[in-house]
Amino acid sequence: MIDAIYDRRSIRKFSTTPISEKDLTDIIQSGIKAPSSKNRQPWKYIVVQGRAKEEMLKAFRQGIAREERGDALLPESRQHIAGAKYTVEIMEEAPVSILVVNTLGKELLSQLTPEERIYDICNIQSISASIQNMLLAATEKGIGSLWICDIYFAYEELCQWLNCHGQLIAAVALGYPKEFPKERPRRKMEDVVEWRS
Ligand SMILES: Cc1cc2nc3c(=O)[nH]c(=O)nc-3n(C[C@H](O)[C@H](O)[C@H](O)COP(=O)(O)O)c2cc1C
Repeated sequence: MIDAIYDRRSIRKFSTTPISEKDLTDIIQSGIKAPSSKNRQPWKYIVVQGRAKEEMLKAFRQGIAREERGDALLPESRQHIAGAKYTVEIMEEAPVSILVVNTLGKELLSQLTPEERIYDICNIQSISASIQNMLLAATEKGIGSLWICDIYFAYEELCQWLNCHGQLIAAVALGYPKEFPKERPRRKMEDVVEWRS
């Protein structure tokens, strides 16, 4: 497991080799094993491949086009639109994407009471743990992965395409890697840790 933590990389180039259903279910099962706040297990995984992948990418591209036209949900993030377009290309190449939904999530723009906000934060932490479990399980199987939040550039379009209740949190692209990147830099231990005793 420690090897998987150290070996995992965000993969952005994938081969066309399909992932077996057994490997996909193993990866999702690892996601389901994650801890969750009050064991609420707020996650739902939509496994997208084949024709559904094309439909999903169409919705993604429509959202990015809307952001570019000026009818933007994220007007202060314009500088990241090029990155989002690249992410769509990566997802096109990846044979599988898993969209992860917070089934207990409220509308993106809804006002929350402090308690609702904490409930939401806890659910999102639970889902993040689940996503990380999936990335590590994939790494252990030699399958590359990319955690994707550029989906927020097409939030409405993707939610409409998904047609499911809750809040879309992230996507995970999966496939056999066609690149083997070096470790990306990390902040130094002494810069991020404060020891108190
Ligand atoms: C919450 C989250 C969202 C991310 N969203 C994207 C994304 O939309 N597109 C992308 O190419 N990479 C995305 N990444 C990958 C990060 O860029 C990557 O993890 C980081 O640069 C460190 O590289 P490494 O994963 O290879 O260690 C995301 C990572 C996280 C944790």
